[in-house]
Amino acid sequence: MRPIAAVVTALCGLVLSSSSIVSAESSPEVKLTKAGVSSDWKPPQVFKNVNLVRNTNLEKGYARETVNVVVENVDKQPQSDYYLPFPTDLFDRVAGLEVRDKKAAEKGRFDIATIEVAAPSDVNYYLVHLPEPLAPSSQITLGISYSLLNSLEPRPAAIEQTDRQFLTYSFSAYLPSAYQTVTQKTKIKFPSSNVPDYTTTDLKSGADPERQGSTYTYGPYDTAKAAPGTTHPVTVRYEFTKPVITASLLERDLEVSHWGGNLATEERYWLRNNASTLMNQFSRVEWTVSNYQQAPSSAIRELKYPLKPGSVDPYFIDDIGNVSTSRYRPGLRNREASLEFKPRFPVFGGWNYSFRLGWNNNLASFLRRAVGSADSYVLKVPFLEGPKMGEGIQYEKVVLRVILPEGAHNVRYEAVEGPSSNGLPGPHQIKSEFSTHKTFMDTLGRTTLTLTVDGLTDEARDSQLVVTYDYSLWDGLRKPVTMTVGLFSVFAALWAITNIDVSIKKR
Ligand SMILES: *[C@@H]1O[C@H](CO)[C@@H](O)[C@H](O)[C@H]1NC(C)=O
Ligand SMILES: *[C@@H]1O[C@H](CO)[C@@H](O)[C@H](O)[C@H]1NC(C)=O
Ligand SMILES: *[C@@H]1O[C@H](CO)[C@@H](O)[C@H](O)[C@H]1NC(C)=O
Repeated sequence: MRPIAAVVTALCGLVLSSSSIVSAESSPEVKLTKAGVSSDWKPPQVFKNVNLVRNTNLEKGYARETVNVVVENVDKQPQSDYYLPFPTDLFDRVAGLEVRDKKAAEKGRFDIATIEVAAPSDVNYYLVHLPEPLAPSSQITLGISYSLLNSLEPRPAAIEQTDRQFLTYSFSAYLPSAYQTVTQKTKIKFPSSNVPDYTTTDLKSGADPERQGSTYTYGPYDTAKAAPGTTHPVTVRYEFTKPVITASLLERDLEVSHWGGNLATEERYWLRNNASTLMNQFSRVEWTVSNYQQAPSSAIRELKYPLKPGSVDPYFIDDIGNVSTSRYRPGLRNREASLEFKPRFPVFGGWNYSFRLGWNNNLASFLRRAVGSADSYVLKVPFLEGPKMGEGIQYEKVVLRVILPEGAHNVRYEAVEGPSSNGLPGPHQIKSEFSTHKTFMDTLGRTTLTLTVDGLTDEARDSQLVVTYDYSLWDGLRKPVTMTVGLFSVFAALWAITNIDVSIKKR
């Protein structure tokens, strides 16, 4: 067996060396990170926030904020570096940060860099780079949006199985800013009007917050005289009898096969529920009753997963094996397909559940040839899919792998940007890596693009990734040719050996 294998390998090597050198290229990545800024460093005071409105949305299992701020250049020179501070404990939990010109949102997001302040420091900064420097005394309205992962805490931390759940959210009534802020306010949208506890302040005349249904408004405050960074802690506690679904890791593989005309998706989830834990042992009887009554629960009972039209062969496997409690409705005639699956057990607060699911699609719906080039392809796929639930999902880490055919080269990628936020962070906050992924009889291995994002939410569900690559007829033929040449050489070698044997016998 061994000599034959050696012959095959040698011949494969021949086939290989005759092919052109194949390499994957990454799009040029700009490193904007400023490292080693000392901990007492302060951004230059060249801007003033004339008016700031923060909208905090607590309808999902994480906080999402949009801040609209009118910024004025108070310096004598044009300025383009706007610093955005976050308390250090929050900095790593900021997800999907995006900044645009609020009045020209269609022009796209601004470049954002991370400033690494030397520890210990209470504050870390993002640096927002305005594409056009702001002239002295001119104003721009920034639209800043982001999510804060792991920002909601259940109180009480442990409840009875059928109890309602309450979450707390803490923040500062004065938004941490690097600059003087003249007026500001914060509007909080709760999931319901059941808000039993909230901090009241005397920072303004009249009631603070002002309440209207499920929206509470802190401010407006006159903070012209407050030093930048002044804080006023506020905590709110509100009902949220839903799970707080957290994926500590999602691995998502998209495998392109030109031969099979197939796009195979597989996703592996490590989920946990950050809801209140159970005070007592889980009771199946109580669970059956409350399930029958459709009572709200902080347990993960079912996950609803819309799939692209034309998705086929879905599977759902957890640590034990096939899960039969899933229901699949194929999307007929361009309608979204839907996979509804129940974990093997209700996932209560503090519990974990990991599983994997996958399906196939016709590649033609996602791939086309690049205009004007026979050997270039454009692949457009969702960056993130995932369950679509009212309570949302926060992802601590997402690793997306796009596995291209063997021999694909000159690979470039880009997240599709639209007139509004796609939920993804900017290109500098997405780590990319190219590698090769070897499978059976591959000579070169498949070109693989791996994108890693620390911190994402279901807001990025509709984001699209475009991957372009070159792939010629020869790239496509390499595998069958290699196999044929390999097999042929085996027969040739066998024939030669047989002949030698025969000649020896004759003697
Ligand atoms: C969520 O759960 C994890 C693991 O149980 C825990 O470490 C973390 O502190 C929780 N987060 C919040 C905000 O409660
Ligand atoms: C899982 O179920 C599918 C059909 O529902 C079946 O084709 C497959 O063989 C099963 N796999 C295992 C490991 O039981
Ligand atoms: C759940 O998973 C986390 C990691 O995400 C781990 O730290 C924790 O111990 C697990 N909890 C249980 C109850 O298995």
